[in-house]
Amino acid sequence: MTTYKICLLAGDGIGPEIIAEGVKVLDAVGAKYQVSFEYTEALIGGCAIDATGSPLPPQTLEVAKASDAVLLAAVGGPKWDTTDSTKPRPEQGLLGIRKELGLYTNLRPVQIFNALAGASTLKPEVIDGVDLVIVRELTGGLYFGARQRFYDEPGAGTNGAKGQRAVDTLEYREYEVERIARQAFEAARTRRGRVHSIDKANVLDTSRMWREVVHRVHDQEYADVELIDMLVDNTAMQLINAPKQFDVVVTENMFGDILSDEAAQITGSLGMLASASLGDGVSLYEPSHGSAPDIAGKGIANPIAQILSAGMMLQYSFGMTEAAADITRAITQVLDEGWRTGDIKDSTTPADKVVGTVQMGDLVVSRL
Ligand code: IPM
Ligand code: MG
Repeated sequence: MTTYKICLLAGDGIGPEIIAEGVKVLDAVGAKYQVSFEYTEALIGGCAIDATGSPLPPQTLEVAKASDAVLLAAVGGPKWDTTDSTKPRPEQGLLGIRKELGLYTNLRPVQIFNALAGASTLKPEVIDGVDLVIVRELTGGLYFGARQRFYDEPGAGTNGAKGQRAVDTLEYREYEVERIARQAFEAARTRRGRVHSIDKANVLDTSRMWREVVHRVHDQEYADVELIDMLVDNTAMQLINAPKQFDVVVTENMFGDILSDEAAQITGSLGMLASASLGDGVSLYEPSHGSAPDIAGKGIANPIAQILSAGMMLQYSFGMTEAAADITRAITQVLDEGWRTGDIKDSTTPADKVVGTVQMGDLVVSRL
């Protein structure tokens, strides 16, 4: 029997609750498909800061690198919120592990479960049949450029007050754009053959280079794929106006971060959006949502994005395409039967169909 080594990074907030459901589902899949999973837990984010002073302890990286895949839940919380850039923040753990593992491709599929049509704030006819994937560049751009705060700059304040200055740098190298463009075109070839490349080329130089490089890669290697340029502000509007036009959406790190939260809402809840972060080595799978500190410990968080992320792990890291589809099918069945966590219920959901985190995981396992 094949054994896969999985590094578990539960992180903060609802992290431990939802990752337990991901593991439960993986174990059920393992039993059904005759593979076994061996888990090693490690610290990341706020809990790692508390235990070691660092949001990404070296030990965590070692475990991750020695694994076949990493399953992560979420990091962050009010306890570690600070605007002091000299203090460690949980998010640095997440950005750090993405960088250290070279996870430059982030796939965030937005798929509609028909049963949830009523949970979206958009009209059913707008969202019916939406099937898109955001391909977010994950290790470059604004989130990784040089950052600095300058305190007490002479003359920078108003009314004689001492002023400050803050700088973030948005930088891309050509090869970084080339490789993410290829990922997007490859994805499009397995889907409906259309790529929207999102930029702000009417203002930013990084976007102008992005556009040139994406077009060059397209013309030389992927002329069979349809390529459409779209400005990021227009994309924000189009995503809620006419989301069906999108198949593959490729974009810079920060634009992808923002647009993926927006796109998640098409499905009714950020609690439904899974993600895979891929590079040239070990891959990492995590829900697109955060640690939801407001509902942590209450047993009510939606584990579906986490479970779908485990499904993406089966597909991308272990080639278990059928098992991954099985997870999606089981979730579809549970939702079709009317079961809901609080975030995806609507005014028509009967009270006895609203379940907590553990019950939702149990339901998915039983339908598997
Ligand atoms: C995400 C999150 C992270 C990001 C934060 C927590 C650093 O918002 O995965 O979308 O911006 O990438
Ligand atoms: Mg985000």
